Amino acid sequence: MLGGASKALFHLLAKSQNLKTLASRYGMRRPRSFARRFIAGETTAEALDAARAVEARGLLITLDHLGESVGSLADADAATREYREIGETIVAAGIGRNISLKLTQLGLDVDRASAVDNIRKILTRTDPAGFFVRIDMESSAYTQVTLDIFETLWEQGHRQIGVVLQAALLRTEQDLKHILALGARVRLVKGAYKESKNVAHQHKADVDAAYATLMRTMLERGDYPAFATHDPAMHRLAKEWAAERGIGPDRYEFQLLYGVRRDLQTALVAQGHRVRVYIPFGREWFPYFMRRLGERPANITSVLRSLRDERKTQNVRRKERTTSGSDSAASTA
Ligand code: FDA
Repeated sequence: MLGGASKALFHLLAKSQNLKTLASRYGMRRPRSFARRFIAGETTAEALDAARAVEARGLLITLDHLGESVGSLADADAATREYREIGETIVAAGIGRNISLKLTQLGLDVDRASAVDNIRKILTRTDPAGFFVRIDMESSAYTQVTLDIFETLWEQGHRQIGVVLQAALLRTEQDLKHILALGARVRLVKGAYKESKNVAHQHKADVDAAYATLMRTMLERGDYPAFATHDPAMHRLAKEWAAERGIGPDRYEFQLLYGVRRDLQTALVAQGHRVRVYIPFGREWFPYFMRRLGERPANITSVLRSLRDERKTQNVRRKERTTSGSDSAASTA
């Protein structure tokens, strides 16, 4: 299946240090550089600008300070501090108080207890300010531990948090039952990671069918579910089922990624739906960016076009410098 193969290829490429160095040099350099389509910028100031622009279109936001798989406690501490500061900046900026984060960014690969401490440090700052914090879901190697940590936090009284479940995973139906029994909020996604047939559906049609079934359960039993997909067929089903059951559009939301299907984002809002845009930013954008390419290899065309334009501009500048260099050399001669 092309989808699975391309996911696998881009996951492999995401581990390439050379490619990362090359992409980092060109990807965000200029306002029209290729990574900017999916990533709001490398700084918090750029993220705030993007968030304001998104909110001005009548959409809601969640900010993700990119980072994952950190390999030391020092990096995990730094990510935690940054999230606490970002929380304060968001409050000062007056934009929507909603963030998304990953547990491996907070040190889960290094030491589980430290990762739990770190997320608590963030929540003690964000809970009183009324933030909602969504814990993103990473590959299936982290599903159980992520859900366990989520449940621990929930039982400790952190109720402004939510989790993500992936329709691609075979276990998700059971996980959904469990999370719904807690009364917690779920973001349903199809799943961005390449998974083996032992744990996940391998065909898009099966993932879509699972998504539809889970979505129906969430509409019937969930507390303000979030349907995170760009798939118009899923939007249509959600709207139909909600209307049939008299569930108003204020009782669920759609979520889409920054830079993806802006036409749909606007159309859904115009129809009276709540739509949240996931806005990623930060210097560690490369793995996130590669996942977006893996989902839709056609995106590679726009990356190549942007790289070609970038090189053309560079060549023109180089020629201009050479010409002005020889002009000045001529004038001094
Ligand atoms: P599908 O892949 O069927 O695509 C439907 C249509 O959407 C395509 O035909 C195309 O038009 C458009 N589209 C999809 N992806 C695109 C792209 N990259 N570029 C351009 N167009 C694209 N995953 C995960 O494992 N853990 C998580 O925590 C999250 N979190 C998350 C938050 C939010 C707000 C969203 C929208 C998605 C996620 N995901 C995620 C990613 C998710 O699992 C999935 O990989 C992508 O959303 C792509 O699948 P779709 O549901 O959009 O459908």
